Amino acid sequence: MKYSANSTALSQANAVFVAVFEDGTLSPSAQQLDTQNKISDLIKSGDISGKIDEITAFRRQNQHIIVVGAGKPGEINERQFKQISQKAFQAVKATSAQTLVNALTEVSIKDRDLYWNVRFGLEAIATESYVFDRFKSKKTDPIKLQNVIFHTDDKQAQLAVQHAVAIASGVKSARDLANCPPNVCNPSYLAAQAKTLEKRTALLTAAVLGEKEMAELGMHAYLGVSQGSKNEAQLAVMTYKNHPNPHAKPIVLVGKGLTFDAGGISLKPAADMDEMKYDMCGAASIFGVMNALVELQLPLNVIGVMAGCENLPDGNAYRPGDILTAMNGLTVEVLNTDAEGRLVLCDTLTYVERFEPECVIDVATLTGACVVALGQHNSGLIATDDALAEQLLQASQQTQDKAWRLPLSEEYQEQLKSPFADLANIGGRWGGAITAGAFLSNFTKKYRWAHLDIAGTAWLQGANKGATGRPVGLLTQFLINQCR
Ligand code: BES
Ligand code: MN
Ligand code: ZN
Repeated sequence: MKYSANSTALSQANAVFVAVFEDGTLSPSAQQLDTQNKISDLIKSGDISGKIDEITAFRRQNQHIIVVGAGKPGEINERQFKQISQKAFQAVKATSAQTLVNALTEVSIKDRDLYWNVRFGLEAIATESYVFDRFKSKKTDPIKLQNVIFHTDDKQAQLAVQHAVAIASGVKSARDLANCPPNVCNPSYLAAQAKTLEKRTALLTAAVLGEKEMAELGMHAYLGVSQGSKNEAQLAVMTYKNHPNPHAKPIVLVGKGLTFDAGGISLKPAADMDEMKYDMCGAASIFGVMNALVELQLPLNVIGVMAGCENLPDGNAYRPGDILTAMNGLTVEVLNTDAEGRLVLCDTLTYVERFEPECVIDVATLTGACVVALGQHNSGLIATDDALAEQLLQASQQTQDKAWRLPLSEEYQEQLKSPFADLANIGGRWGGAITAGAFLSNFTKKYRWAHLDIAGTAWLQGANKGATGRPVGLLTQFLINQCR
């Protein structure tokens, strides 16, 4: 799909989106297409009243005119706007139209300017056109539409298209990677993906550490998890350098990359275990952000790390009761081998100290407890640095890739005490998302740190089962905001 923003005449397109409002008014483009009162009559006859979610379409010569209800003028919110854009796109997807002029730019979203109208409109179309049929013998028919033109001559729209296209492609690459089955997407496959990014630009280089290098570094918490798998753990480091000051400290992004989490000896129940192929969604989101970054060429130094590993039960697997020595010297008693994410991450968080980070943000499908606490709409945010937390919350609010901060105070550390080691890897029943964050915070003392638990937000279950690509939007926006 090619996206642009300009004031191409409505007559140039085979499909047009126009809005009508609940008070009976027509958007300017709807007025323009209201020849012979065609649209006014649709309202009069009750085919459409302008309420959100109502939609009707008609054909005039070779043009599909899709009339969309946009609620009360100026009152529609972000979610409703994406919803109506998505619905309108579903209507055009079924047609043979090749060029769409999207005049929903004339719908003003509450408290948002045109830049955000285009951002959300493009995001909705990209989401709606996503298919993952790589493993189907019969492929989905390709969408005929080639061009989407956002109907506006406002200059902000150019930047919005540029940003939204890059984020959409980042989201798509994260979804594709995450939806990949675990027999294909194993730790080596993840690392190979990082390498492919190198070919796209001279601004990015990728390096991969295997188990031998990890052993030399003393990453025995990470290695303990990997012990039960025949697939070697792989830590992939993508270095993007484009800051005007080459010595500027990098922003470091770390993703949990459990390409499959069976729980290990503390085996998970069978129901829905297939979904644990998504336990690498943190890593996939970092890959998505690096993709977006390469496309945007932002003037920043950013290091993206994917901590690839597999957690399986096996004769050689690590056991409950094992004590592992982490890279920073802390010893950890394993009380549940299913709390593996924090073991992989703790050594990765120590490893990234060498980059002298400006800040570190890790992203992980870390705890079921986070889903219990926040449901599937907000990612859990935990941070030791308030300013960093605020910046992430701001990016989250802007993009509506929602996140909610959980408290992290020293009391929670009490729950991680072990009679035999410096730390236990689980903190008991209460506040599981927080104690997981508290565990990680023991390994982040050398820099400003924040953690996003995406266990509830990284994929959808049910009819629309699949990876969401979150929080690529949030994190890319955070990076865009750093450039101001
Ligand atoms: N990957 C899981 C967390 C998870 C579970 C994410 C379900 C999404 C849906 C993680 O490795 C895990 O198993 N965590 C345990 C921790 C517990 C043993 C303290 C959990 O949440 O049950
Ligand atoms: Mn687990
Ligand atoms: Zn896991």
